Amino acid sequence: MNLKIRAGIAALLVVASATFAYAGLVNYTEGTGVATSPHNMNLYLPIASGGTTSGDPNQQVCKFCHTPHSARSTGETGYNPLWNRNPVTQNFLPYNGLLKEDYMADPTYLDKALSLQAVIDPADMMDGPSRLCMSCHDGTTAIDSYAGKIGSFTPTAPEVVLAPLGDGHSGESGGNLMNDHPIGFSYKQVAANDSFIRPANVDIGWVPAADRKCTKIEELLYKADKLTCASCHDVHNTAARTAAKPLLRVKMDGSKLCLTCHDK
Ligand code: HEC
Ligand code: HEC
Ligand code: HEC
Ligand code: HEC
Repeated sequence: MNLKIRAGIAALLVVASATFAYAGLVNYTEGTGVATSPHNMNLYLPIASGGTTSGDPNQQVCKFCHTPHSARSTGETGYNPLWNRNPVTQNFLPYNGLLKEDYMADPTYLDKALSLQAVIDPADMMDGPSRLCMSCHDGTTAIDSYAGKIGSFTPTAPEVVLAPLGDGHSGESGGNLMNDHPIGFSYKQVAANDSFIRPANVDIGWVPAADRKCTKIEELLYKADKLTCASCHDVHNTAARTAAKPLLRVKMDGSKLCLTCHDK
């Protein structure tokens, strides 16, 4: 496989930020909606910031991520669910079956990641919901920066920060997603070549219906094909029927989420 790791566009939103160690402060019940979940920043901010940041003046929930009018750029063309945050434009280091340390020691190892069928191009790997997640989970953007407002609270705990910026390839601005499940590739292309990856367009009969929030795998994929953060996660905590933490679309007991796509 020939992976081109390209330099990301350095358009960082740099904000003055307070930093706190943090792990899961908001207790919540699965499937009860976004307002009672960790994705309601009004619940999270006062606790996490020690009371210095109290959330939206009207305690609006959606506003931290969406606006009914005058949406902002998501950092990509062709996708904008009325977004209300500043764009994350940089590229990220993709999964390739190696840890960053090994890759840095010998970049030719890239050619040795034989088992992976997925073809990931860093230039479009974050397309769809994944790029939106990084406007908080990159550990750089203050989570209370929305509607053009510059916020002040940037969590640094690993529970929130998946790919810290500056942890990428030297000379790149994006973070390191090499130690995270691969995203940003054509699922159907992999399924066609790998008999242990389930077909995307048939009814999922192998996971009990009561344990999943989807009928076919393609419902989990961006444009019915690309695997993204939202393939596994339900950002709004709406999966009342399946009720799986942390914000998952399929239950995790017995690894049912994994077995939805992997025939193992
Ligand atoms: C923490 C950020 C965040 C919050 C808060 C949030 N959303 Fe979203 N929303 C997203 C993301 C990311 C997407 C795109 C990914 C997806 O659809 O899974 C999205 C997509 C959507 C969509 C289009 C796709 C769909 O699921 O129907 C609607 C409608 C929506 N949100 C409504 C809301 C409403 C209404 C609220 C408040 C009650 C809200 N959202 C709160 C992040 C958020
Ligand atoms: C507005 C900022 C923001 C956006 C946008 C956002 N998140 Fe989060 N998310 C957070 C914060 C802050 C927490 C930690 C809050 C807590 O645990 O109390 C969190 C927690 C989580 C958790 C852990 C939940 C748990 O049970 O502890 C998951 C999973 C998650 N986010 C996934 C996503 C995904 C996937 C997206 C994109 C589709 C996304 N988030 C978009 C801010 C955001
Ligand atoms: C293949 C499925 C899958 C994909 C894709 C995925 N996640 Fe997760 N994520 C999980 C599972 C499962 C957990 C819970 C892990 C556990 O409890 O052991 C999790 C946990 C998390 C957490 C909680 C903190 C942690 O590290 O445990 C956050 C935040 C999160 N994911 C965000 C994201 C974001 C952002 C993306 C996209 C870059 C993403 N996830 C892509 C399955 C996935
Ligand atoms: C939405 C479908 C989907 C879900 C859910 C999912 N995966 Fe994957 N996973 C894939 C695909 C597709 C690949 C790429 C496989 C390939 O390239 O051969 C992959 C790749 C992987 C790889 C890397 C394989 C390699 O050859 O390097 C591992 C390991 C893995 N997944 C484990 C898991 C685990 C564990 C879970 C549950 C926490 C999970 N996956 C959930 C679809 C999924």
